[in-house]
Amino acid sequence: MTREDDVLHVVGGKPLGGEIKVRGAKNLVSKAMVAALLAPGTSVLKNVPEIRDVQVVSDLLRLHGVDTTVDGKKGIVTIDASHVEMPAVSDVETLSGSSRIPILFSGPLLHRLGEAFIPSLGGCRIGDRPIDYHLETLRKLGAEVDKEHEDGIHITAPHGLKGTKIHLPYPSVGATEQTLLAAVLAEGKTELSGAAIEPEIMDLIAILQKMGAIISVDVDRTIRIEGVKQLKGYTHTALTDRIEAASWAAAALATRGDIFVKGATQPEMMTFLNVYRKIGGEFNVTDEGIRFWHPGGDLKPVAIETDVHPGFMTDWQQPLVVALTQAKGLSIVHETVYENRFGFTEPLVKMGATVQLYRECLGSLPCRFEQHNFEHSAVIFGQTPLEGRDIDVPDLRGGFSHLIAALTATGESNVRGISLIDRGYADFRGKLTALGADFN
Ligand code: EPU
Repeated sequence: MTREDDVLHVVGGKPLGGEIKVRGAKNLVSKAMVAALLAPGTSVLKNVPEIRDVQVVSDLLRLHGVDTTVDGKKGIVTIDASHVEMPAVSDVETLSGSSRIPILFSGPLLHRLGEAFIPSLGGCRIGDRPIDYHLETLRKLGAEVDKEHEDGIHITAPHGLKGTKIHLPYPSVGATEQTLLAAVLAEGKTELSGAAIEPEIMDLIAILQKMGAIISVDVDRTIRIEGVKQLKGYTHTALTDRIEAASWAAAALATRGDIFVKGATQPEMMTFLNVYRKIGGEFNVTDEGIRFWHPGGDLKPVAIETDVHPGFMTDWQQPLVVALTQAKGLSIVHETVYENRFGFTEPLVKMGATVQLYRECLGSLPCRFEQHNFEHSAVIFGQTPLEGRDIDVPDLRGGFSHLIAALTATGESNVRGISLIDRGYADFRGKLTALGADFN
C-alpha cells in the first residue's frame, strides 16, 4: 500500500519556469565513494547531491567500519578508510535490494580484507540486469566467487588479485567500473577491451589517477591499468548529473516552459543537445549552466536510438519520450541498452498519448535484443493532449517521466510511489516549487 506522503498530487497544464541547480552525477558519486575504500586515508568528494543512493553507500561504508560523514547541505562527503572491517552478514543483508552499487565493493574489499560479502542487488526494474560480466571479471583477476549463500555472494581472493586480459561482450558501465576498482591495486597489468567510456567513468578514472593509479584509455575502447602497490585519499569535485539536467530539459519542452539548469555542462550533453535542437527545443549554454526552453509553435518528431557513450543515453530516453508526445508527427525510439525500458509508456497511453511498442529493431544500430521478443522499440504519434490520471511510479527515470507527464497534462494526477524518485533526483519537490509547479 502506498503511504500518504509517498503520493504527489499534481495539477498540470502550466509551463515550468525558473532556475534550478543540479549537482554531481548519481552515477559517478556512488562509485567515487566506493573508490575511497581503496586507500587507507581520507578522501573528500564535493558537489554531492542529496539523494538516497548516497545514503545507501554511506551506510554500507559505515557497516564496513569506514568513517563516513555526509554534509548534505554543502554537498561534501568525507570518507576516512584508514580502518576497514568485515561486517556481520546479517547487517549487510539489511541493505539487500536497495541499490546495485554493493557489487562494486568487491575489488576494494578484496584488496583491503581479502574477502567481500555482496548482498542481493537492487536498482531499477528495467530488464534482467544480470551481473555475469562483473563476476567473470573478478574471477579472471583471481577471485573465487561463492554464490551458494541465499542472500548474497561471498567473494574471496586467497592469492590476491592479478592483472590479466579481459574482454567485455558489451561495453557495460558497471563491469568497466568493476574492472577499474579491482585492477588498480592488482599485481601487474590489466587490459580491458570492449570497455564503456561514459563521462562518469572518465571522472572515476580521474579520481583513481589522483589516488595514484596508472590508467590509460585507448581510442578503441581498451583501458589499460598498471597495478600499483598502494593508493592515497583524493579530493574531487564530481561532474554534473547529465541525466538530471536532461530530465529538466525535457520537462521544459513538454510543459512549454523555460528552465535554467544551473550546473549543467555542454560537453557531456552534446548528443542530447543535438536531438533537443532537432525537436525544436531551444537552449543557450552559459558558464553557469544551460537554459532550455520551448520557443512556441510546433515541436518536430525525431528518430533516435539509445546507445553507450557517445551515443544517446538510455536514461535520457524516458523523459524525452514524454516531450515527444507533444511533437507533431511520428517519432521512433529504438532502445538498445535495456530490453525492457518502455513499460513506463503504458500510463502515458492511459493519459492520452499514442505510443505503440514493437519487438522489432526500429533502427540500424546493432542490437542484442533483435529476435528476442522484447518490446524495445517505440513509435510515438503526436501531438496528443494528456489528461491527468493516477499513476504508479515504476522506476527512477520512468517515475520522473510520469511526473513530467502529470505536469504536462490538463487536470489532476496522483503520482504514487514518489519516494523512488528520491534515489536520483535531489530535492525535486523544492525544485518543482521553484519552477512554479502546482502540487502537494
Ligand atoms: N549487463 C549484462 N551483464 C552484466 C552487466 C550488464 O548483461 O554483468 C547488461 C545489462 O543488463 C544492460 C547492459 O548490459 O542491458 C548495460 O548495463 P550496464 O552495466 O552498462 O549498466 P549499469 O552499470 O548496471 C549504469 C547506470 C544506469 C545506466 C547504465 C547505462 C549506475 C548506478 N547505473 O548501470 O543508470 O542506465 O549504466 O548507462 O551507474 C539510472 O541512473 O537510472 C540508471 C539505471
